[in-house]
Amino acid sequence: MNRFTHETPHVPPMIELGVNIDHVATLREARKGSRPDVVAAAKYCEKAGAHQITVHLREDRRHIQDRDVEQLAHVLQVRLNLEMGVTDEIIAIAHRLRPHTVCLVPENRREVTTEGGLDVAGRQDQLRDVIAGMHGHGIRVSLFIDPDPRQVDASAEVGADYVELHTGAYANAPDEAAREQELARLWDAANRVAETPMRCNAGHGLTVANLWPVALIPNLNEVNIGHDIIARALFIGLENAVKEILDILEKASFYRAAFPSRPEQDG
Ligand code: PXP
Repeated sequence: MNRFTHETPHVPPMIELGVNIDHVATLREARKGSRPDVVAAAKYCEKAGAHQITVHLREDRRHIQDRDVEQLAHVLQVRLNLEMGVTDEIIAIAHRLRPHTVCLVPENRREVTTEGGLDVAGRQDQLRDVIAGMHGHGIRVSLFIDPDPRQVDASAEVGADYVELHTGAYANAPDEAAREQELARLWDAANRVAETPMRCNAGHGLTVANLWPVALIPNLNEVNIGHDIIARALFIGLENAVKEILDILEKASFYRAAFPSRPEQDG
């Protein structure tokens, strides 16, 4: 309440945080035991204020296992976002467990992590069917794409609810000029998403150090962050690692409402 006008002050929408906990399972699988406990990790993230838990059930099961997804689907209070390759086996698992969202990603057995975005423009018929099937099971669909206008348009055409813009090229840019260029591509792609019914998410390679400029994108709805949070958790604890990212998102959510254009475009 505003004590002078008795009106509720305008609170800009908060950019939401999905914590990707795959690497908790990576550590567990290093010994093929039961620790660290993936469900306990998800609960710590939830307690710290995360809006969503994200896991990638890979075809090669290198980290997250089927039982993890099964347990998370039953115990989470917050949303479960299942990242997945577009294969019949994983589609059937998603239909059965009904996570809140699936994020469709390209998957390649030899990659260290998800490398590029999904080529939606090149496989529209297949993706239209997969998305309709997910919608039939009450599951929302996000497509992980490069910040490319052609892929944004194709994602809207196949009926996606969200796109997740791949921030890897931004995060791994070799110098300041390249980083600026990648940031501009992200802003342009996000503007294009704003002209569609889809909502705009982002993820991959985001850290406490590089998140701020991305979080200023006016229509950014959610970020998914994994590696940096789990790596920071070794030194400061998982709840603190989640909270420091939430703190950046909260500040950026207020800042972007006050200054909605890109900083270098202001002057
Ligand atoms: N979003 C998607 C679609 C991903 O594939 C990944 C990596 O699994 C992430 C976000 C998280 O990336 P990072 O672990 O680099 O934060």
